[in-house]
Amino acid sequence: MKDQFVVNGGARLSGQVRVGGAKNSVLKLMAAALLAEGTTTLTNCPRILDVPLMQKVLEGLGCDVEVDGETVRITTPARPSHDASFEAVRQFRASVCVLGPLTSRCGRAVVALPGGDAIGSRPLDMHQSGLEKLGAKTRIEHGAVVAEADELHGAEIHLDFPSVGATENILTAAVLAQGRTVLDNAAREPEIADLCDMLVSMGAQISGAGSSTIVIDGVESLHPTEHRVVGDRIVAGTWAYAAAMTRGDITVGGISPRHLHLPLEKLKIAGAEVETYENGFRVRMERRPLATDYQTLPFPGFPTDLQPMAIGISAIAEGTSVITENVFEARFRFVDEMLRLGADATVDGHHVVLRGIEGLSSTDVWSSDIRAGAGLVLAALVADGTTTVHDVHHIDRGYPDFVENLARLGADIRRERVEEQPIY
Ligand code: UD1
Repeated sequence: MKDQFVVNGGARLSGQVRVGGAKNSVLKLMAAALLAEGTTTLTNCPRILDVPLMQKVLEGLGCDVEVDGETVRITTPARPSHDASFEAVRQFRASVCVLGPLTSRCGRAVVALPGGDAIGSRPLDMHQSGLEKLGAKTRIEHGAVVAEADELHGAEIHLDFPSVGATENILTAAVLAQGRTVLDNAAREPEIADLCDMLVSMGAQISGAGSSTIVIDGVESLHPTEHRVVGDRIVAGTWAYAAAMTRGDITVGGISPRHLHLPLEKLKIAGAEVETYENGFRVRMERRPLATDYQTLPFPGFPTDLQPMAIGISAIAEGTSVITENVFEARFRFVDEMLRLGADATVDGHHVVLRGIEGLSSTDVWSSDIRAGAGLVLAALVADGTTTVHDVHHIDRGYPDFVENLARLGADIRRERVEEQPIY
């Protein structure tokens, strides 16, 4: 059996919605709990499928994990297992974030590598070279990345690209290394700052979190903590684009607007009225959006995870937009589905040119990843007639209560469970 969303386009979304904790933060924070013996408590955790998946990974490493609504309690034993080569790890890519904590805590880590990814090749070379600079030996063996270190020591590390995952694995290894690590060209995403906040509350010594140079002074040991997960800026950004695309009026809570500065600026250029508050924002749109160009870049640039939403709004905008993807190579697969909805789009390398049309035309579309799936739902909201979005298990991995929230805001959408039909 498979779930699909059935959307009748044309509704103008309005009302209030609150976002929970960030998917891209909670999984790393759960992995960071491996760094300290005892019970670490995380609050404001999103109710998404990836949290129980990560729970399985941590349980496989010897932790006790209790998921109680938005609170997750992880009890880490004195000696967690170093072997994360079991099936649950291979099932989702983010589980690679146990590599840093296991290397520093156990002196050895074996982490299964996931299969191919719909958004492009995702090598681990920067994760490996960072750990090697800290004194570990790493290799790929039998479908797993292996890291071994008698002792980790501080080092100067310069990343070729500000990779989020590599920054996280280097941070979680360096906090227990001997001496000082200077990590240059580090990722600056709010989720990195959130991880650093949690590590500091566990006793780590870190400065420069949220900037491109992070300095870590290794400590002997860390202690468990209680930490609140930062709000999900990508889910919040999705609501902002939903408001603008449907000419609606949505107030979003639970998010610092500073984490969405550029996406909100882009919406203003497109003709939206945007008000920001300390812990939220409101987006109102009265007109057909104006065409706007986008370039995805590491934070504080425009997030690659909102690129499908940028394509969605450009598809129905007045004028022509050019969207350039600089982070993931194969992320334009989504455009094929937009073509099925009638979008006038041409892909050329890592650029897509969209000549805006008045409205999209409903049909069946297939989600290829979390964000592409959410992007298709937004497109379906502005298509005439009934669109069926298939493979929504991707969307469930990142958007808690998506259908329920959309319906509350006025969308005509329902979830259906159907028997899977093979495609030959
Ligand atoms: C994280 C997010 C993902 C987001 C991305 C960029 C999670 C679970 N996922 O993914 O939603 O889209 O950040 O904001 O947090 N690269 C290498 N070698 C490496 C590491 C990365 O070449 O060792 C490349 C990747 O192939 C990609 C680019 O660097 O082209 C960015 O990847 P990275 O920032 O590491 O993204 P993730 O941490 O995988």
